[in-house]
Amino acid sequence: MDIRVAVGDIAAWQDAAVVVNLFEGVTKPGGATGAVDKATGGAVSHLIASGDLKGKFKEAYLFPTFGKIPATRVIIVGLGTRNRFTVDRIREVSAKAVNRASRLGLPSLSTIVHGAGIGGVDLIEATEAVAEGALLASYRFSRYRTKKEDEKPALGTLMIVTPERKDVRTIEKAVGVARATAAAVFMARDMINAPSNDKTPRQLAAQCEAMAKQVGLTCTVLDEKQIQEVGMGAFWGVAKGSAQPPRFVVLEWRGGTKTQRPIAFVGKGITFDTGGISLKPQDGMLGPMWEMKYDMAGAATVFAVLRACAELKLGLNVLGIAPLTENMPGGNAQKPGDIVRTIGGKTIEVLNTDAEGRLVLADGIGYALRHEPEVLIDVATLTGSAVYALGKKTFAVMGTDRKLARRVLNASESVGERAWELPLFEEYADQIKSDFADVKNVGGRPAGAITAGKFLETFTDGRPWVHLDIAGPVWNDGGADSPKKEYHPKGATGVPVRTLVRMLRDWKTAA
Ligand code: BES
Ligand code: ZN
Ligand code: ZN
Repeated sequence: MDIRVAVGDIAAWQDAAVVVNLFEGVTKPGGATGAVDKATGGAVSHLIASGDLKGKFKEAYLFPTFGKIPATRVIIVGLGTRNRFTVDRIREVSAKAVNRASRLGLPSLSTIVHGAGIGGVDLIEATEAVAEGALLASYRFSRYRTKKEDEKPALGTLMIVTPERKDVRTIEKAVGVARATAAAVFMARDMINAPSNDKTPRQLAAQCEAMAKQVGLTCTVLDEKQIQEVGMGAFWGVAKGSAQPPRFVVLEWRGGTKTQRPIAFVGKGITFDTGGISLKPQDGMLGPMWEMKYDMAGAATVFAVLRACAELKLGLNVLGIAPLTENMPGGNAQKPGDIVRTIGGKTIEVLNTDAEGRLVLADGIGYALRHEPEVLIDVATLTGSAVYALGKKTFAVMGTDRKLARRVLNASESVGERAWELPLFEEYADQIKSDFADVKNVGGRPAGAITAGKFLETFTDGRPWVHLDIAGPVWNDGGADSPKKEYHPKGATGVPVRTLVRMLRDWKTAA
């Protein structure tokens, strides 16, 4: 979808549809909506008076203009009540208008910047939200359809119409940021939605190399031989059961000074999680096995964040690391009871081969430490337990550094991606004490997300670190318990890419 900016009066604007808005409870619309009301001979006021139009959040009322104004249709999106108004509501109503227009097969749409006028939201913030919501809603995953008409139609152009010529540059800049952010989210969604047979570790690593070249990142890929040579025994333990060789991807963005230590991200990249010898059931408590193609969402998130760093030219040094492998049963697969040695030298007793994410992350984190990062952030679809604790609408945050956790939580709030913190009290470490090695990879059912976090903490060497367990919100299966904002199509949501991009954009100004 193309987004353009124009100066003009929305009430006199020509397009297939123009989009204005209404707060719930307003009887006499003002601003742009008031102008459209006047130009249509009081159509909006009449609809409010008759009770047909209420301005409820995500209501999208469409009416034909019958030539009273140049636009063919008017769409009025409901903003809800004034005291519940948030920036994320701007994203959602913008997405709502796009979804409605797409369903009707409209080629284009012209909109005002919701929230910037009567809503009182800063113009940059509001524009970013309008553009981001529209773009995120326009996402389609049609790579595997041979008949394009089987795909839902997508809008071609969104025109942002402002009455103020002096605002055009500001709006265009904000649209540019939204475009870069959405491109990163789209890349993550594409990778996560892709079937496992088309995203083997080698294929994903190659895609990453191509992306790095395109946007100006440094990319290094270690193969199965190098992975063993550097001593990533925990990663190799998971990888050796698969016929597909693993890959270890290292992405670097150097936007900061030479001496600045990098902000390091490590993403879990299991391109399919069968559970290994501790095989998963066909239909687990949290979903069918095929969904485990999304078990590389942590890695996809890290790739997307690095991509956004380059496209936004952030003045920071950022490191992105992703161990990529399948988790398969087979003649060469690791077995319950096996003991592996990590790159940092610690040993792990593998009591359940389905707790593989923490094994590959132990080495991913260990490798990241060699770059002496300022802080470490790992991202992983790590535990079903995180889903039991918080559901699928919220991701779990835990770690050893208050300030870093705050950064993530604040950013998540800014972008409308729900996050909540879980404790990492020292007492929980009892559950992962091993009889035969330094730690074991399972801590029992109670506090499963936390003991997984505790396990990872073992490998962070006291560096400021947070862990994001994103098992819930990465995937929208359409259920009531799913993350399903108006800008989340079915399948991969792209959470928490926007949170992390926002955190980095705010890095120097946030307290
Ligand atoms: N990839 C799964 C976690 C997962 C489960 C994500 C369901 C999304 C939905 C992970 O590798 C796993 O299997 N974890 C186990 C750990 C257990 C064996 C300690 C789990 O959570 O059941
Ligand atoms: Zn698993
Ligand atoms: Zn997994």
